[in-house]
Amino acid sequence: MNKPHLHAPPCDRFIHLWPVWLDTTTSGIQQCRTLLPPAELLDGDRRTGQVARDFLTARAALRILIARYTGIQPQSIRYRIGSHGKPRLDHDTANLSFNVSHSGGLAVFAFARGCELGVDIEKIRPIEDLDNIARRFFCTREFESIRRTSGQERVDSFFRCWTRKEAFIKADGRGLSFPLNGFAVTIGSDEPVRLMHVDGDPEEASAWTMHSPPLAAGYASALAYRDQPRPIEALPPQTVKNLLFAVCPDSAGARNHTHE
Ligand SMILES: CC(C)(COP(=O)(O)OP(=O)(O)OC[C@H]1O[C@@H](n2cnc3c(N)ncnc32)[C@H](O)[C@@H]1OP(=O)(O)O)[C@@H](O)C(=O)NCCC(=O)NCCS
Repeated sequence: MNKPHLHAPPCDRFIHLWPVWLDTTTSGIQQCRTLLPPAELLDGDRRTGQVARDFLTARAALRILIARYTGIQPQSIRYRIGSHGKPRLDHDTANLSFNVSHSGGLAVFAFARGCELGVDIEKIRPIEDLDNIARRFFCTREFESIRRTSGQERVDSFFRCWTRKEAFIKADGRGLSFPLNGFAVTIGSDEPVRLMHVDGDPEEASAWTMHSPPLAAGYASALAYRDQPRPIEALPPQTVKNLLFAVCPDSAGARNHTHE
């Protein structure tokens, strides 16, 4: 994977992945607020505490990144929401598609042209009832594969499976209305990352590509799109402050690229 510059030009066949740490200072939150339209601010203000702060920073980071690809001012970006909740750009933007995921203070933003994509990130953490969740939601093969592991590898396998399945239903756009046991993914640490079948159809699965890019230590992540394999450019995790610097160059100390 190559590393795109923060001021990367619009991607062609490339897929860009931007992991962004969501924690920021009070002044960072204030700057994020200035980038959001009133309806999104209201949405944020219905939430409280860290959830509200993460919502505002993630929505601002998304607008900053879309602005860099499209030239549209962050506040002016509009979305269309699909019947199952998938947001898409409501502008003529040369087929730019995006998807977003966040977990444990880290967001990831994925961008491509000319193909729908889905991304998922999860902080790897102990899961109470892991076996029951896997039995209930995953395919038999996936569940059995997880059951053959133990200790940390069992937790890692569970999150590999979860993120790959979420990435697929997000790329497809149907979200959780698509039964998670209606398609299968590989999850073994030594297996190629791929979709195995969709509703029992391996040919449909072969039209899709799936990756598990290592975005940050302690997180599992997956990307899915309906196309042959494309080159992926993934940045190291950025701070929101660093992104804000791109649109508000007077942000004090915003050049710091490290996670605070
Ligand atoms: C909404 C859903 C698509 C993803 O939810 P999630 O994993 O909790 O959340 P993520 O952080 O990965 O993604 C959220 C983003 O996905 C996008 N999104 C929402 N609905 C979407 C859809 N149908 N398709 C694609 N993307 C969607 C939005 O940009 C959303 O951002 P927002 O929270 O700022 O509105 C859906 O799959 C869901 O509710 N999952 C619940 C998780 C779960 O229980 N998984 C079971 C595994 S055992």
